[in-house]
Amino acid sequence: MRIWKVGFVLLLVGLGSLGILYLFVEGLRRNPRTVREEAPATPTAERVDTSDRWTYEDLPKEWPEAPDPSLAREGEELFQTRGCRVCHTVGEGDLVGPDLKGIDRVRDYRWTLLMLLRPDSMQRYDSVARDLLKRYGVQMPDQRLTLREAEAILHYILLKGREN
Ligand code: HEC
Repeated sequence: MRIWKVGFVLLLVGLGSLGILYLFVEGLRRNPRTVREEAPATPTAERVDTSDRWTYEDLPKEWPEAPDPSLAREGEELFQTRGCRVCHTVGEGDLVGPDLKGIDRVRDYRWTLLMLLRPDSMQRYDSVARDLLKRYGVQMPDQRLTLREAEAILHYILLKGREN
């Protein structure tokens, strides 16, 4: 008869452990141990300019031989409307920032484009831009230009610089 008792106890223990296992799995299912990560805020159109993607290699190294008149006209408009003229002239002396006349003789085209496109990084990492910042004491703000807009402005500066 003892063999029945042992069998019965084993059966109870087995059922008990199955029950505990069931509760454990069920508990995990209801309350998963994984941390749900907050999705990062998606960049909004105002913060990231998706209309114009470029890499360093896309930036032309050399100044254009001659300014393109229609691009320069576009650039003139941008120079007036995107804040440049508040701080710069082309051939009429320094304002808040340096006079931009003749910039094509002292800086290369790519450097100047980068200055328009990423002034913050330039002021931080480029030694020439850092010296300018020290000299003028004002941080040139990022005007969020596209590559085409920056090129148009430089064509305008070239053209204007040759006129006066
Ligand atoms: C709030 C004033 C301000 C505005 C607006 C501004 N700049 Fe500047 N800019 C500066 C100052 C100050 C410097 C030099 C120090 C520095 O790097 O911040 C400078 C530097 C530059 C340089 C480098 C000059 C050199 O001698 O190498 C260029 C090119 C330039 N700006 C073009 C522009 C253009 C184009 C715009 C318009 C899209 C513009 N800036 C808007 C203040 C301004």
